[in-house]
Amino acid sequence: MCGIVGFIGNQDSKEILLKGLEKLEYRGYDSAGIAVINENGVKVFKEKGRIADLRSIVDENTLASTGIGHTRWATHGVPSTVNAHPHQSTTARYTLVHNGVIENYDLLKREYLQNVTLISDTDTEVIVQMIELFAKDGLNTEEAFRKTLTLLKGSYALALLDNQDNETIYVAKNKSPLLVGLGDDFNVVASDAMAMLQVTNQYVELMDKEIVIVKKNEVTIQTLNGEIINRAPYTAELDASDIEKGTYPHYMLKEIDEQPAVMRKIVQKYQSEQGQLTISEDILQAMNDADRIYIIAAGTSYHAGLVGKQFIEKMAKIPVEVHISSEFGYNMPLLSEKPLFIFISQSGETADSRAVLVEVKEKGYKALTITNVPGSTLSREADYTLLLHAGPEIAVASTKAYTAQLAVLAILAEVTAKSRGLEVQFDLVQELGIVANAMDVLCGAKEDFENIAREFLATTRNCFFIGRGIDFYVGLEGALKLKEISYIQAEGFAGGELKHGTIALIENGTPIIALATQESVNLSIRGNVKEVVARGANPCIISMKGLETDEDRFTIPEVHELLTPLISVVPLQLISYYAALHRDCDVDKPRNLAKSVTVE
Ligand code: G6P
Repeated sequence: MCGIVGFIGNQDSKEILLKGLEKLEYRGYDSAGIAVINENGVKVFKEKGRIADLRSIVDENTLASTGIGHTRWATHGVPSTVNAHPHQSTTARYTLVHNGVIENYDLLKREYLQNVTLISDTDTEVIVQMIELFAKDGLNTEEAFRKTLTLLKGSYALALLDNQDNETIYVAKNKSPLLVGLGDDFNVVASDAMAMLQVTNQYVELMDKEIVIVKKNEVTIQTLNGEIINRAPYTAELDASDIEKGTYPHYMLKEIDEQPAVMRKIVQKYQSEQGQLTISEDILQAMNDADRIYIIAAGTSYHAGLVGKQFIEKMAKIPVEVHISSEFGYNMPLLSEKPLFIFISQSGETADSRAVLVEVKEKGYKALTITNVPGSTLSREADYTLLLHAGPEIAVASTKAYTAQLAVLAILAEVTAKSRGLEVQFDLVQELGIVANAMDVLCGAKEDFENIAREFLATTRNCFFIGRGIDFYVGLEGALKLKEISYIQAEGFAGGELKHGTIALIENGTPIIALATQESVNLSIRGNVKEVVARGANPCIISMKGLETDEDRFTIPEVHELLTPLISVVPLQLISYYAALHRDCDVDKPRNLAKSVTVE
């Protein structure tokens, strides 16, 4: 949540900062600001709304080759121009942008800032005021910054300007992601390499509790105790064109359409020269050493975990529990003797998941992260990583990352099963090829899904998704997609649970999207549809070829029964997309949300 950029170099920084913030809008988009500094001092421009709104108020004539910027997802204080970053100290000597949450900000305010009038409701302003306070006590900026950092509890990625020095950006991080990028005669700061790919692909990772002094031709990384750290840069393997929309109206549609190609890429990436699917030996060892697997994830990744449990239990015969990361800390189950933790996270940065990872590492357990972002925090801090190879996912609503997570989980389950001498009844390479082809067919049937969205969802207040077995989990994901981008109240239910309460919600015309892809429960789910229709519901049955009846609204191509979630989700993604379009919603940036949730 919230994105940070910084630039210090040899050319005007405004456009670079604004372009960088545009690339970080997925991290928050309720307000934004930049501060630039030249020999005349610092100038701040900030505005409620999107980067486009900020752009319209930035003074073209202010030229400055050093600057910092921020796009916000509000935590403390409503989205407003006053609460937007950058924040300044009372005398405007210091200017700061912050991503994260300072847990003890109120305590610090009472202890140190009784005589300071704060103008915003943010935790961030406390930090910048404390730096000024310590500087007034005689510390130089670096010392004042350092002293403030030692007093902060919580998460932060920070970039600080000193009005008296236009040649330095002071940077620090704890728990929130931050990178320094290196250039020829310039250096940059960014929450995500994607933001500054426009100027460099050379980045240095920062670790928690490090301070970095960034100058035009020099970057000095230190620990909080002042120990200098030498760390080699890495090349960000991102193609700038991957993060553009191209001819698509929305990233979400582009990412839905990319799914068949992602399936093929995953197979290729996990295939040996002999054509077998492979996973590295140490991961297989960890899987085989485990007496129980604990999958930890949030949002869509949690839904992928629910399906992943079926893959692992059915193929590799290892018991699996799936937990919501934000709940795990309080509701930790009794762990088995030899647990293995699998973290599923598209971004690899979700704070709730990371908090669990830190805890299980402290207890000495092994952890595997399945993520789309190499080098992300969850990937670095786990013992092992499996990559999704889905390419950058920009739309807030996750689509291709979900199906990539399922494909990688299926591969993990299959390869583990084989390593345990268990027979897998199908050839996964071939089946994933069939899945990719089926996805192609579904992506080619957009008109059908647009019609369904118009017919069932154009004006409704609510919509329920029902399914049994593995279809139930896909229904949960379908409901999440619909609610997050169209704001229709949508819920997924197990077909058999309807009559234990939910059926009371059915009114004349309530849309019910029912999934019927599993032969073993086909008759029972159709029975559930009859029950809701008898009470006035408007049913939209999506079945799989071979199980279809005349009453079905759409039939998806046949794939292996266990792999149906990989394709039955595609109609639900597209129906949600068109429902959001019909209702004039901002598909890629739905209200109140952010893609990368880096606060707990
Ligand atoms: C946010 C996103 C969701 C995502 C969830 C978990 O809520 O909007 O799309 O599923 O975070 O994110 P992760 O990066 O850990 O998969």
